[in-house]
Amino acid sequence: MALQFLIVTMHDTVALVQLNRPKVLNALSLQVMDELVTTFETLDRDENVRCIVLTGDDRAFAAGADIEDMATATPIDMQTRDQFAKWDRIRRNKKPIIAAVNGFALGGGCELAMLCDLIICGENAKFGQPEISLGVMPGAGGTQRLTRAVGKALAMQMVLTGRMITAQEAYNAGLVVKVVPPEFTVKEALAIAKEIAAKPPLAVQLAKESINAVYETTLQEGLLLERKNFYLLFATQDQKEGMSAFLEKRKPKWSGK
Ligand code: CAA
Repeated sequence: MALQFLIVTMHDTVALVQLNRPKVLNALSLQVMDELVTTFETLDRDENVRCIVLTGDDRAFAAGADIEDMATATPIDMQTRDQFAKWDRIRRNKKPIIAAVNGFALGGGCELAMLCDLIICGENAKFGQPEISLGVMPGAGGTQRLTRAVGKALAMQMVLTGRMITAQEAYNAGLVVKVVPPEFTVKEALAIAKEIAAKPPLAVQLAKESINAVYETTLQEGLLLERKNFYLLFATQDQKEGMSAFLEKRKPKWSGK
């Protein structure tokens, strides 16, 4: 698929995906979402890619779903498009995705950042779920992922008032892992991505799957999945290599097998 609204570059084994629709603050049109889903799925299958960074530009990560796409839509249009099914496909990516957020991450933009596995942001970042001011509510996970990330009180305030929070507030609430000067956001995300990319990939993927299960299962089911994934890793060459290297006091060489 020819990409109109995304720029993809490789940084060793890390893929950097940049939303590139600056005139409308990277609003997530149906086409942008199609390009994102296809790109993520391609990168997920590519053995040379170990980790993905998703970013926007200095002004906006993304200012939400494209309001023009939805303004005159009927419920049947929305149901037929089933646009959020695409978001589920991104969620199924096995490789870690890091959101590097500068500027606005609003509505679907905030939801997209939360769909990633971790968020690094610039001091100028603003997170919000302003859908209430458009006469609707979040529809791509905002009420669920935001509440799990920041707790009920702050999520209620953000979703019911549409008020944005600053980078520092997002950090204090546990929504983002690190706040840096905006010119370092992508650099920092790439640095963390490279650190992850240097770890044994199968262990990384199963650890990601296990953590994400927290959002979807009971504690008992989550513990069972964790245990199975832990045992499964004993079938990998990288487990043998990692433990032998430790005992032999040398650096491990990961094969990814
Ligand atoms: N969809 C379509 N176009 C958008 C957009 C969006 N979500 N957000 C911004 N734009 C466009 C503006 O219409 C404007 O276009 P023109 O230059 O052609 O007029 C351009 O981007 C620049 O925006 P502003 O002039 O408004 O810039 P600003 O700095 O004054 O304000 C802002 C920035 C506060 C982010 C403001 O643009 C804004 O409030 N945007 C809408 C945010 C929003 O409501 N997002 C939720 C969308 S619904 C959703 O996401 C549903 C879901 O759950 C998936």
